[in-house]
Formats: sequence, structure tokens, C-alpha cells
Amino acid sequence: MLKTIISKLMGKSNDKIENSNIICGCFNLTEQDLKNAVSNGAKTFEEVQQITKVSTGCGKCKGNNEKLVNNLILKKKIDENQVVCGCYNVKVQDMINAIKNGSRSFEEIQKVTKAGTGCGGCIESNKALVGQLLAKY
Ligand code: FES
Ligand code: FES
Repeated sequence: MLKTIISKLMGKSNDKIENSNIICGCFNLTEQDLKNAVSNGAKTFEEVQQITKVSTGCGKCKGNNEKLVNNLILKKKIDENQVVCGCYNVKVQDMINAIKNGSRSFEEIQKVTKAGTGCGGCIESNKALVGQLLAKY
């Protein structure tokens, strides 16, 4: 009802109003589509792309959507206290504890938790995670 009134006042169709939260016009995707992909288990932007096709058309939305997806993935890791370094079974809470005990950089957190000092495969993602945690704690 409200949408219809607004449409008439603004001379826009309902479709255009509903499309205002489209984040990838090539595939008609909303932020919710990306959230669904992450909550269904996608762990990287590339995996979200495989599921949703986001940013695989003209590509002009890629920068913003990559940032958005990376933030959604980090938020999920924090909310679920996930294991973020399989080699040493380090969880997000272990990193938060290190920060609360005075660690103020990725390297300092590494010394305490050993995160990233095994195979090294988790270093890049954990640097991004630590950046968010340091801003929060
Ligand atoms: S707007 Fe997203 S790929 Fe074109
Ligand atoms: S998974 Fe973290 S060092 Fe191997």
C-alpha cells in the first residue's frame, strides 16, 4: 500500500522501488542473496561467486561486493567462534583473549596463539580477522 502511494507520488513502478537494494544488476542479486550463500557455508568470495554468480558479468560491482562478502565471512567467524587456524586449533576467542591480555598486532597474537605458524595457509585471512578484532576490543 505504502509502496503504491510512494510509486504514484514519485512516478516510479513498484519494481524500481524494490530494485533499490540490488547489489549486482547483471544478475539481479540483493545483499540477502550473498548473506544466504555465506550462511549456507561459502567461505570465500570465489565460493559466493560460484553459488550466486555475483560480479561475474560486467564486473563493475566486484570491489564493493568483495568487501561486503569478506565482512560477512568475518562476522560469521566471530559470531560462531570458529576455528581459524586448523594447525593449532585456534579459535576466534583465543585471539580475543590474546588481545585482552595485551597483544596489539597480528605478530603478537601469533606468538601467543601460534596461529599461522604451521602450514601458513591461514595467515592472510587471519590478518584480516585480527584487524577487525583489534578495532573491536
Ligand atoms: S553489476 Fe554485477 S557483474 Fe555487472
Ligand atoms: S591452518 Fe593456520 S598455520 Fe596451518
